[in-house]
Amino acid sequence: MKILVTGGAGFIGSHTLIELYAAGHTAVVVDNLYNSSKEALNRVGKIVGEEIPFYQTDIRDREGLEKVLSRYQFDCCIHFAGLKAVGESVAKPLEYYENNMNGTFVLLDVMRKHGCKNIIFSSSATVYGDPAVIPITEQCPKGHCTNPYGQTKSMLEEVLMDVQKADQEWNVVLLRYFNPIGAYKTGTIGENPNGIPNNLMPYITQVAIGKRKELGVFGNDYDTHDGTGVRDYIHVVDLAKAHVCALSAIARQCGVGIYNIGTGHGYSVLDVVNAFVKVNGVDVPYSIKPRRPGDIATCYCDPAKAKAELGWEAQYGIEEMCRDSWNWQKNNPNGYAE
Ligand code: NAD
Ligand code: UD1
Repeated sequence: MKILVTGGAGFIGSHTLIELYAAGHTAVVVDNLYNSSKEALNRVGKIVGEEIPFYQTDIRDREGLEKVLSRYQFDCCIHFAGLKAVGESVAKPLEYYENNMNGTFVLLDVMRKHGCKNIIFSSSATVYGDPAVIPITEQCPKGHCTNPYGQTKSMLEEVLMDVQKADQEWNVVLLRYFNPIGAYKTGTIGENPNGIPNNLMPYITQVAIGKRKELGVFGNDYDTHDGTGVRDYIHVVDLAKAHVCALSAIARQCGVGIYNIGTGHGYSVLDVVNAFVKVNGVDVPYSIKPRRPGDIATCYCDPAKAKAELGWEAQYGIEEMCRDSWNWQKNNPNGYAE
């Protein structure tokens, strides 16, 4: 298939491009490079053995998108483009609602106009809020999102389902990602956060490489096996492959499909730190800090539906995730910057 990949220069998008090409698909990337670098696409091009067509365009720019969709006939869009920093979304709600909501509205309208009515959307475990059941199945009711970022994911899921309900030529796959970490095995592409990382793994790798003094562990009094927060970490390469599998649902005209994309295993903050230290033989000093507002104790999924319906299941475990995160960080101490 020929795939329009919005946000394809980002962390998950760049890894997904590799798996798309490995499976025989081709892609065109639209990204405004707000949170990414063209260098990521150059490196993906080296891995897949051909240059990835790229347009530096904002998805809110209707004319820019029109140009791309007039030039190519796409079978499907994989829609990664969006702002994703939870804390920043609390400080800048209008910017987040405007970018994520309006960007998706323009994208859907231009896609419809050009007869491309298939979309795979990057949703998040955050739509479950404080989950009603563990492990989380797709039947679990959506919860209250404590931040504008999460609200945009939850609302866009509803928007996409309404669009499909009104016009059944649409096929919509909502992938609810759990906690993606790791990097491609070459260590040439990976997660490249701006400034102080908010998420656990990039913080750990920056402590390990000496950029930050110590990791703050946000709370050790949760109701978990060691008191620290438990999450369903998933290797980004496994996550990338889930998108390729989701294309099979699109091909059989699934209507709406909603899938949890995680491993089904929960690891605590200290489990991750210990695995990282053991696998990589490096120190990660840490100290216990107060809980982070908005955090929950435990979040991991039941990924059985994705296995049954998409034929997808995660292959990598926490050791590979820790090894590959470190491989990327140590080979690229400053990310994509020279
Ligand atoms: P990322 O920031 O690395 O990638 C997003 C890309 O979208 C960036 O390259 C950015 O420049 C681009 N972008 C943002 N707004 C745009 C716009 N208006 N027009 C064009 N391009 C735009 O993030 P990621 O980690 O690769 O996440 C990809 C998607 O998955 C996002 O929608 C994110 O919310 C979602 N998601 C991520 C995680 C995670 O932990 N990384 C978890 C759940 C869901
Ligand atoms: C966060 C977002 C979620 C988003 C996801 C992926 C919040 C409340 N949630 O999830 O919406 O979809 O990222 O981008 O921000 N931790 C530390 N020290 C750190 C960083 C994290 O102890 O420096 C702990 C956290 O308290 C948590 C775990 O590590 O228990 C994972 O945190 P993080 O990587 O930020 O992911 P989530 O909070 O699960």
